[in-house]
Amino acid sequence: MSTDYINIFDTTLRDGEQAPGCGMTAEEKLRVAYQLEKLGVDIIEAGFPISSEEDFLSVKTIAEKIKNCQIAGLCRASQKDIDRGWEAVKHAERPRIHTFVATSDIHLKYKLKKSREEVLEMISGAVKHAKNYTDNVEFSCEDATRTDLEYLCKAVEIAVQAGATTINIPDTVGYTAPDEFGHIIRKLKKNVPGLEEIILSVHCHNDLGLAVANSLAAIKEGARQVECTINGLGERAGNASLEEIVMALKTRNDLLPFQTGINTENIYPTSRIVTQVTGVNVQPNKAIVGANAFAHEAGIHQDGVLKEKITYEIMDPESVGIPSNKIVLGKHSGRHAFKNRLEEYGYFLTDENIEIAFKKFKDLADKKKYVFDEDIEALINEEFLRSSDYYKLLTVNFAGGTGMSPNATIKLEIDGKEITDSESGGGPVDAIYKAIKKATGENPNLENYSVSSITGGTDAQGEVSVRVSENEIVSQGHGSDTDIVVASAKAFLNALNKLRWRREHPKVSNAKGI
Ligand code: KIV
Ligand code: ZN
Repeated sequence: MSTDYINIFDTTLRDGEQAPGCGMTAEEKLRVAYQLEKLGVDIIEAGFPISSEEDFLSVKTIAEKIKNCQIAGLCRASQKDIDRGWEAVKHAERPRIHTFVATSDIHLKYKLKKSREEVLEMISGAVKHAKNYTDNVEFSCEDATRTDLEYLCKAVEIAVQAGATTINIPDTVGYTAPDEFGHIIRKLKKNVPGLEEIILSVHCHNDLGLAVANSLAAIKEGARQVECTINGLGERAGNASLEEIVMALKTRNDLLPFQTGINTENIYPTSRIVTQVTGVNVQPNKAIVGANAFAHEAGIHQDGVLKEKITYEIMDPESVGIPSNKIVLGKHSGRHAFKNRLEEYGYFLTDENIEIAFKKFKDLADKKKYVFDEDIEALINEEFLRSSDYYKLLTVNFAGGTGMSPNATIKLEIDGKEITDSESGGGPVDAIYKAIKKATGENPNLENYSVSSITGGTDAQGEVSVRVSENEIVSQGHGSDTDIVVASAKAFLNALNKLRWRREHPKVSNAKGI
């Protein structure tokens, strides 16, 4: 591999998933993993196997199915975590164990309650234990940027001596700035013997909005792996955004002469799939993948772009997979145009599924004049990307209006049986949710309910997201339909299906709160 090659380590399925409301089921994670493989990432961090049965299963399934990326599982620096992590990743063509421990005095004193010496022993023990399983071992010094620099050098040296093949320097709390981070990387490269033989990695959080700038500064100083997420998802303000790092390297290759293996025209489809799966929308002005990233509103800009794109466009929208010539589909569109549009967005369906999707598309086109790309994505998500359904929606009917008490009747298929129930409530959604609770016997707390319109116009599809919780278990559901009452029912059932799955597959431990 050439010395200017930057390994892209995607942690959307691990750090991204730790963000509130971004939890994904095993099926959803696999769907994203297939897309990340198409995107060309080098390493997929598929999860934190010891954190729950569900995460273990996700990592194991991804390791079995994805052939062209290394698959990493995160483990704390303990034998138990590493054993469990290995069980999950060992099926991969190229498995990686990623083990970590905090090195800052703040974390040592308040969280770990350990001395510096004890932590050095943990590092050596964990890396050596992982090496019994595989050669491909990554070690991370959590909170590295608030760690005493001499001690950080020592910790990294111990990990290198124990056999780590990648050393990761996380800015866990998004505290550093480009000059300072560049200095840390320079100092490590200069002071740690043997570091030149291994890959130095960085992992930046975005609390001060500097995650991408810090990652680029580290690359300039010799980091050859960056850890990042699609849409910049991640804990708190998120992680460094994959699309921004990759496009900065590509667009400013004169300043940053480095290469990646990313197929950039798959960036936008990947961003959309992650949005669909998590239900977390990208802010409109987000660089590269936001709805306005390539929209020119001001007359003077529009005039310039029409005369010559280069006046106001530094990147070609097509280079990140945003189709330039958006033909809006409608009820006269044929199967061929429909299939083409699906493929442009990364959905390669079997002939049988194309037929199912095409029929749904025609039904939608009867209700809506124009069917936009976002509608098609929602349709595919509804039909094919949902997790296993214990509770299936058959019909929902609602009566209400001025002077009437809203009443809803719901017919569900539950474990193979049809169940019908009715309830009244303060409003249509309230009535439906009560009827669903009665029919399913589920009674979680509804923590959040939000509705947005997928496209413009009164015939637009409504997209509903809900978050429910029961004891420690939290679950997020999404649903879309031209009728927001139906979308609300779908979203609630989606959340209940995930909740039930999680209840029936209890957590092994609660290690996620790192
Ligand atoms: O932010 C962080 O420090 C992490 C490590 C576990 C790599 O996510
Ligand atoms: Zn992180």
